[in-house]
Amino acid sequence: MQIKTVGVLGCGLMGSGIAQVCAASGYKTIVREVEDPFLKKGMGRIEKFLSDGVEKGKVTADAKQTTLGSLSGTTKLEDLKGCDLIIEAIIENVDEKAKAFGVLDGVVGERTIFCSNTSSLCITELAAKTKRPDRFAGLHFFNPVPLMKLVEVIRALTTSDETYQQVFAFAQSLGKDPITAPDKPGFIVNRLLVPYLLDAIRAYENGLGTLEDIDKGMKLGTGYPMGPFTLLDFVGLDTTYYIANIMFDEYREPAYAPPPLLKRMVLAGRLGKKSGQGFYKY
Ligand code: CAA
Repeated sequence: MQIKTVGVLGCGLMGSGIAQVCAASGYKTIVREVEDPFLKKGMGRIEKFLSDGVEKGKVTADAKQTTLGSLSGTTKLEDLKGCDLIIEAIIENVDEKAKAFGVLDGVVGERTIFCSNTSSLCITELAAKTKRPDRFAGLHFFNPVPLMKLVEVIRALTTSDETYQQVFAFAQSLGKDPITAPDKPGFIVNRLLVPYLLDAIRAYENGLGTLEDIDKGMKLGTGYPMGPFTLLDFVGLDTTYYIANIMFDEYREPAYAPPPLLKRMVLAGRLGKKSGQGFYKY
């Protein structure tokens, strides 16, 4: 089956980035949000990213127009009926995801492939809740989606060889450089990244250094583009806390246990860049 039309569920930070790269790669792309204001906000984010790209000389004005021309938005799941592949990037909740896939199962063709961009939930569990567990895979993008080259392709226990190969090739067709990751909490990247971020918080709580010095140390000393606290604020403290809890639940290892400070910052609403304050103020 040739993939020509792609559906994206959710037009938040990840969904809008995913829809943008699909449209920019020549796929007819339909992105669905639950309500018009969310859709407008997400579409506005895409438009701005492309305009910034034109200003920076990274995107041509023609490419911007072609991308926007390949992209449409909707609030109706039924409008995704002609899609060959659907990528879900909605709230990290199994029931909500299963509900959306349940509706789609009834409207799309039999060969349509379902993918989830979940960063933490079990792909096999999500696949098992659909009528097409063999045509289901994880497709995990990284923020900011249009700039980050990596995509993790995750096979559920039930994913067929054909689906896995098609999804992997699809990720490559987006200009990404995919890797295959196991269906285990954290996949590959978060499995290594999250304990590092949690350890940085623990070290800070134990007086290792100032936020600025720890960030500067890791940035300049190891060539990371961002120090751990800048990255925590960028990813979102709530997101990190959520992933850490899922990993700790599964592995029961202290390395994945969220430190008390992280929990308290989430409870206080200091979620990072998106809330205006995390470890730093914005
Ligand atoms: N359109 C096109 N290109 C653009 C652009 C736009 N709107 N905005 C920026 N760019 C280009 C820039 O021109 C630049 O290109 P060159 O390298 O060729 O010069 C490049 O993108 C980087 O942009 P900037 O110079 O503006 O910014 P930066 O150098 O500070 O990089 C960053 C920004 C890419 C975010 C970098 O800081 C970074 O990689 N940070 C780490 C991000 C990270 O770790 N993400 C993963 C988080 S974990 C996750 O997402 C998974 C999960 O499940 C939680």
